[in-house]
Amino acid sequence: MKDKKASRGVRYITTPIYYVNDKPHIGHVYTTLVADVLSRWWRARGDDVFFLTGTDEHGAKIAESAQEAGVSVEEFTERQRQRFKDAFAKLDVAYDAFISTTDEAHERQVGVFLEKLKERSVIYAGEYRGLYCTGCEDFYTEKDLIDGTCPIHKRKPEEIAEKNYFFKLSQFVGEVGQRIRDRSMLIEPAARRNEVLALLRDGMPDFSISREKVQWGIPFPGDQAQTVYVWVEALQNYITALGALDGDARFEKYWPHSLHLIGKDILKFHAIWWPALLLAAGMEPPKRIFAHGFFTVNGQKMSKSLGNVIDPLALAEKYGVDAARYLLLSQFPFGDDGDVQEAKFDEKYNADLANGIGNLVSRVLTMVTKFCGGEAPEAIDGVTDLPKRCTETRDAVSAAFEALRLYEALGEIRALATAADETVDREKPWELAKNDATRLSAVLADLLTVLAELSVLLAPFMPEAAKKIAVALGRDGTVGDGALRLPKGRALHAVPSLFPRRQKG
Ligand code: MSP
Repeated sequence: MKDKKASRGVRYITTPIYYVNDKPHIGHVYTTLVADVLSRWWRARGDDVFFLTGTDEHGAKIAESAQEAGVSVEEFTERQRQRFKDAFAKLDVAYDAFISTTDEAHERQVGVFLEKLKERSVIYAGEYRGLYCTGCEDFYTEKDLIDGTCPIHKRKPEEIAEKNYFFKLSQFVGEVGQRIRDRSMLIEPAARRNEVLALLRDGMPDFSISREKVQWGIPFPGDQAQTVYVWVEALQNYITALGALDGDARFEKYWPHSLHLIGKDILKFHAIWWPALLLAAGMEPPKRIFAHGFFTVNGQKMSKSLGNVIDPLALAEKYGVDAARYLLLSQFPFGDDGDVQEAKFDEKYNADLANGIGNLVSRVLTMVTKFCGGEAPEAIDGVTDLPKRCTETRDAVSAAFEALRLYEALGEIRALATAADETVDREKPWELAKNDATRLSAVLADLLTVLAELSVLLAPFMPEAAKKIAVALGRDGTVGDGALRLPKGRALHAVPSLFPRRQKG
């Protein structure tokens, strides 16, 4: 199977926009990191990728947090937004756009979108009476509660009675369900798809799309006493960022080729409300929604009160940016719930990076320096199976990317590095140097091919390390599908230790 680079795909990759009441923790950074890795991979394959992330800044929860912090809500959101931007920069995340829901362009377009819904008569005024959890910024019914408390925040929701505008969700759920069933809108993994279909079977009520008592929000068109319900405007970030309601060509190009990456807690909003709102406005629903699981840390839910929140910046300080990215993505398959065992980070770092890939790279380059004067030797086909392993690994990694299986992709990459190590152990180049110069040359050339392949495959995960490998091989450090065989005589460069071994403790 050949790498499919012939068709230049258009891909729009999004993350949830993060509430700015919290500081960025690995639960947030994880999704953005995954989006970054996917974007880098597909960009390098020649696809036209647009990667969006950002912050969710309106609503009662944010207003309350600003008040607790004793600053104006504008100052608070600005400060907190910067923390997210800093965290993403620190982790080498290369997004194409960062949206904030307080951006003027977003606020304006949300107004236009709601006008459209009004024109299409899918909004009606009503009285909302019920329960609301500010932590979730979501409405609950008695049957959703556990011991009278919100199942996520474990606190009693507020009783609310206010005049609101409602969205006629009931008019669109049939079509939403149909699109999920015929897979024109993919909900993944399968368990999440089933969860959404079950919700639809149980029946989803019309929902309120405005709030009377929340001032920190976008004014509801035509009724200044109301603001737009925070979820309804937050979801729209995915299209306002492309200038959908400003007639921007980016919308034509990237929508609906979207891949929405989300956490499983926000599935209902994305898989039911969002497509219904789009259909109601006469727009196409997204193509693919993938919900990942939740992190626990050392077996416990990550929470500020337990003090076990993993700070991504501290992780990058301790292990380096590339290794921090690797450690986060190699914990468990994307999609599953998983436990992050901090105590095992050192072990994993040493095993996979310091003694694994890092050691292989320096081992091979040292041998080439010693036995071939630092120049790429002549390749001879058919001596080792490493070139074939490279092609197979490339195919397997490509397929894993299509299925968003980054953990599995990393497994394939590690297996290639292991195969190269085994080849060194078996062929013993230091002995070939004494008695079989031709085979020595073939083996080392194949090992260099593996390093070149690793620099391509690792690039989306560990951009800096991949670049260092490429530079050591005299490649220009950009990632492409170019021939990976190094030309005979190519001068190689020493590589600085990629992943210095960590001592215990
Ligand atoms: N603002 C909304 C999303 C609006 S999208 C139009 C929101 N924000 S959030 O900051 O509370 O959560 C953002 C994402 O972080 C969610 O996808 C959530 O699942 C994820 N995580 C928060 N804690 C998490 C873990 N402990 N583990 C994994 N992801 C978790 O919801």
